[in-house]
Amino acid sequence: MTKPLPDTLPEALSAPASAPVCAGNLETPAGKTAAQSSATLTYQVLPEDANPAGNVHGGVILKLIDTAAGVVAMRHVRGWAVTASIDRMDFLRPVYVGELVILKASLNMVGRTSMEIGVRVEAENLLTGDVRHTNSAYLTFVALDDKGCPRPAPPLIVEGDAVAERRLRQALRRREMRRQAIAEERRG
Ligand SMILES: CC(C)(COP(=O)(O)OP(=O)(O)OC[C@H]1O[C@@H](n2cnc3c(N)ncnc32)[C@H](O)[C@@H]1OP(=O)(O)O)[C@@H](O)C(=O)NCCC(=O)NCCS
Repeated sequence: MTKPLPDTLPEALSAPASAPVCAGNLETPAGKTAAQSSATLTYQVLPEDANPAGNVHGGVILKLIDTAAGVVAMRHVRGWAVTASIDRMDFLRPVYVGELVILKASLNMVGRTSMEIGVRVEAENLLTGDVRHTNSAYLTFVALDDKGCPRPAPPLIVEGDAVAERRLRQALRRREMRRQAIAEERRG
């Protein structure tokens, strides 16, 4: 027989019962470059991160990617930011126990409150020094204020930086595709 849920369950949860009421966060902070927030994270893979054959679980890589992108988002806004979406991700090459996962994350585009962050994942064999590209991912984060409401993020300064300009152009195209996919999904 299923045990009934205790009456106190809602109080035991820390999440608010309803979404915060958000009334126009308008002030836009000063712009910043991608270099000011870019981050490189490393992690040595342990046996508990892998299946019995020694291949790292995809979910472990995904968590590392989310963490690396979160660092960039928080550095850029110097405040809270949450993951709104993660684009399609392919696992190109396996990562094995004992290897070093290297995650290079940087900001590609800033909307009003949202930011696209790109993460390149590499695996380094510490015995041979061989480094290979295993994944790339694009994540959208949204800057939040203390009430959990979206708030304007500092605009991204790309002028004079050819790489940043190219990444911005590509990110704008991806944002358009994301918007179209969401609209199509809503239409059913
Ligand atoms: C992300 C979240 C704050 C957006 O809230 P919302 O009410 O949709 O906010 P808005 O409609 O004002 O959109 C805010 C921005 O997010 C963008 N956005 C919203 N949903 C998105 C999605 N699925 N993918 C990409 N961008 C998205 C909007 O385009 C907008 O961008 P802009 O301000 O740069 O133009 C809300 O959906 C949320 O809290 N989700 C849960 C987040 C979470 O728990 N993540 C996992 C743990 S970190």
